[in-house]
Amino acid sequence: MQIHETIAGLRAARKAAGRVALVPTMGNLHAGHIALMQQARERADAVIATIFVNRLQFRPDEDFESYPRTFAADCEQLVAAGVDHLFAPDEAEMYPQPQTYHIEPPPEQANILDGAFRPGHFRGVATVVMKLLQIAQPDLALFGKKDYQQLMVIRNMVRDFNLPVEVGAGETVRAADGLALSSRNGYLSAAERAEAPRLYRVLVKLSAAVRGGVRDFARLEREAMAELDEHGWQTDYVALRKKLDLQSASAQDSGLVVLAAARLGSTRLIDNLEL
Ligand code: PAF
Repeated sequence: MQIHETIAGLRAARKAAGRVALVPTMGNLHAGHIALMQQARERADAVIATIFVNRLQFRPDEDFESYPRTFAADCEQLVAAGVDHLFAPDEAEMYPQPQTYHIEPPPEQANILDGAFRPGHFRGVATVVMKLLQIAQPDLALFGKKDYQQLMVIRNMVRDFNLPVEVGAGETVRAADGLALSSRNGYLSAAERAEAPRLYRVLVKLSAAVRGGVRDFARLEREAMAELDEHGWQTDYVALRKKLDLQSASAQDSGLVVLAAARLGSTRLIDNLEL
């Protein structure tokens, strides 16, 4: 695997590659990321992974500084997954001067759900993803469904700007007890880790109720949040939405997804389940 720290280096390597798949990450790789690398490997001649902890998508009170940085272990996993190129720029390479132009996703996409609790987050994500797409010029870019709203924002950005790239998605990879794999799971204490799978169980229960014919979505959302709160979570939201645009769903709608975000101690976890 070739490691590129500069945009010029990556661009030179990209020219020589055929069909390229890009997998952007912030590192601290787990099996969910590796499944994306494997999908990339199957669908392209060359795979470019990126590792860059993007300050623009963190609020000042969030975990930018403490975000786990595990470069050597990440490289080992990427080599084992058959990744050809790793783009791992530092901040000076990505943002040599403060970023003055930004991608501003529309409020109905960016200010709902996670965006309501993390103002500016999707602006930061969209801006860095636009930069990574311009730098790597991939034919295919892959993102995990665990960040469901992020995936929607990126798909819509690519469509609206006519970017010549296909956006693909990878299914959420879960631990045996159902907890969605996430770099932030490492923040959990042993007791919190034991409690954490409840988030997924609550989503499974809610989806089973909808599939069983319950149509009072507001009640189901309230009950799910109450169950989490009763077990020590601070729940930001549990929301049944339309898959396509993540807008509120009414009783007649099909094509639904239930999304949740909640805090266990100081760790904020998100998850979702398509119905
Ligand atoms: O999902 C992530 O890891 C990040 O949001 C991404 C897409 C790499 C942008 O920094």
